Amino acid sequence: MPVIDVHNHFFPRTWPDFAARFGTPNWPWIKHTDPGKAEIMVGDRFFRHIYSACWDPELRLQEMDRDGVEMQVISATPVLFAYARPTEHALACAKLFNDAARDLCSRGKGRLNSLCQVPLQDIDASCEELSRCMRAGHLGVEIGNHVGEKNLDDPGIVTFLHHCADEGAAVLVHPWDMFGQSRMPKYMMPWTVGMPAETQLGIVAMILSGAFDKLPKNLRICFAHGGGSFAFLLGRLQNAWEHHPVAHGNCELTPKHYLDRFYVDSAVFDARALQFLVETMGTERVMLGSDYPFPLGEHGIGSLIRSSKFSAAEKGLLLGGNAEKFLGLRTESAPAGTPEPAKPIEPRSDRLTYSSYLRVPELLRLQHPQSVPEPHDELLFIIVHQTYELWFKELLHDLDGVVASLRASAANPQSRDHVYEAARLLRRCTEITRVLVEQFTILETMLPTHFLAFRGKLEPASGFQSEQFRELEFLCGLKDEKMLRYHRPTPEAYAQLERRLREPSVHDAFFDALRAMGKLTIPEGATERERLDARAHAVLSLYRDEHSYRDWIDVCERLTEFDELVVSWRLRHIQLVERIIGMRMGTGGSAGSSYLKLTLDKKFFPELWEARTLLTE
Ligand code: HEM
Repeated sequence: MPVIDVHNHFFPRTWPDFAARFGTPNWPWIKHTDPGKAEIMVGDRFFRHIYSACWDPELRLQEMDRDGVEMQVISATPVLFAYARPTEHALACAKLFNDAARDLCSRGKGRLNSLCQVPLQDIDASCEELSRCMRAGHLGVEIGNHVGEKNLDDPGIVTFLHHCADEGAAVLVHPWDMFGQSRMPKYMMPWTVGMPAETQLGIVAMILSGAFDKLPKNLRICFAHGGGSFAFLLGRLQNAWEHHPVAHGNCELTPKHYLDRFYVDSAVFDARALQFLVETMGTERVMLGSDYPFPLGEHGIGSLIRSSKFSAAEKGLLLGGNAEKFLGLRTESAPAGTPEPAKPIEPRSDRLTYSSYLRVPELLRLQHPQSVPEPHDELLFIIVHQTYELWFKELLHDLDGVVASLRASAANPQSRDHVYEAARLLRRCTEITRVLVEQFTILETMLPTHFLAFRGKLEPASGFQSEQFRELEFLCGLKDEKMLRYHRPTPEAYAQLERRLREPSVHDAFFDALRAMGKLTIPEGATERERLDARAHAVLSLYRDEHSYRDWIDVCERLTEFDELVVSWRLRHIQLVERIIGMRMGTGGSAGSSYLKLTLDKKFFPELWEARTLLTE
């Protein structure tokens, strides 16, 4: 297994005078003192001695060879984060150092990779810069453990971390801007005391706030310097959680259950500390990190791990195996020795390619089976569900178009163009749904026993939490507010569904259009049943005058067909469920198939069906 150092730093040889460019003081700059030696200055204050390994790839590679390191993943130094400055200044700084990192890596004979930095005070700008950097070849991002008063559980930062997961970007959290500095003016105490506490604070904030519950499990995040004081004080945290309700925060599980959600590096500089760290976090959660080439870094990179009492296999994981997973160089479950999958080709320039337009590399990085060793069919299970979700997205897009067309038609009842457009889009919706009904057959090639091999890993995830499925129901007019409760753990989904509840549905837009045409009047104070009857009679009047309302009848037929196909989808889903888990309960806690059967009576447009009864009377 290769030896990979995930935590080390670089500085370019020179960079522009930011203070002059932006007209603001105290930017970092580099003062070359002797050949191969320099000082980092912040304004007129000395910050750190550095040497040419920071910018010279040849020297870096020589020292990596000396220490037996195959790969280093370089990142900037927190003094460059500029989180307290205006976004445009911090972004310009980030871009400059991000491009400089790629330049250094391009001269690293394939042995240097990089993490970018982002202006984390602005989440949109950070997401955009991260995406740009991932396209440019960075493997992820290094962020500070706070932005001013905001810890890592800040909703904006959580959104950014979501984006990192979507982009497949590894995240290295580095402590910076340490608190209590007025009480630590001497002896490098901000580094030796402040930094470990800052890192611990970052981890604890993410656990107790429930940020880890909200974030997807495929987020790969690592905390520098062995996670600071976290591992040593985990017992204290757990004890507080168990005995003081006030210490619970919003997390779903107790703190020790979150250890498999993040990595830490090995920069603890003491054999017993490393032993304890690995025993606490697990052999799969600690990775080589050296802080090279800074004075506080490990001298003889990897020597602490190599001289530890762990087995050769465990050392292999600590020195590089875990880093391969963290960096996305190897998938979670590929057993050691498996040949590396061919890496998707990244575009080398800004010219659009098939891959860059369709974001194929990102798409192919989004399948993360949870079981180890990976059962063969878990990938199928993930891909089938993801495909459903993609089609749900298209359905929502088209049905939004249907609502817009019907509303335009209500605004101008004489024009038939909008009616035609609504029917055209509805035809697409029925064709998509037909495919969705059929698609269950693919999943039925999975034996019940093969599903059981990984079902335990799914709890408490369930189809109940498919936000888009519920959105589809709401958008078509089946607005059951009770279903919102399954989305409490995901505030964005909850807010989106609440919005759908308030907005006009396809059902509303359709009958508003009939009202605008003079086909529907509902008397004040009418009961629910009388309203439904009035709507059914409005539909009836269209069918009874086929010659004048062919286009509207086409819309009615498409809506009826869509309704019918969604019931077929529900039925096929029930058959699949019974075939795979029989009459067992669902992972979402429902009675399973017998619960799902109750949903078969749900109809989006009962009036369209009622009109048929009326026609034959
Ligand atoms: C092994 C295959 C599957 C099994 C065993 C299964 C099982 C279940 C069960 C038991 C429920 C009821 C809720 C619960 O207690 O969890 C449910 C709901 C649901 N499932 Fe599946 N499911 C499977 C595949 C799928 C697929 C491929 C989709 C595609 C998107 C899907 C979408 C849904 C949705 C949207 C719901 C909520 C339905 C509603 O509330 O009316 N399921 N599933």
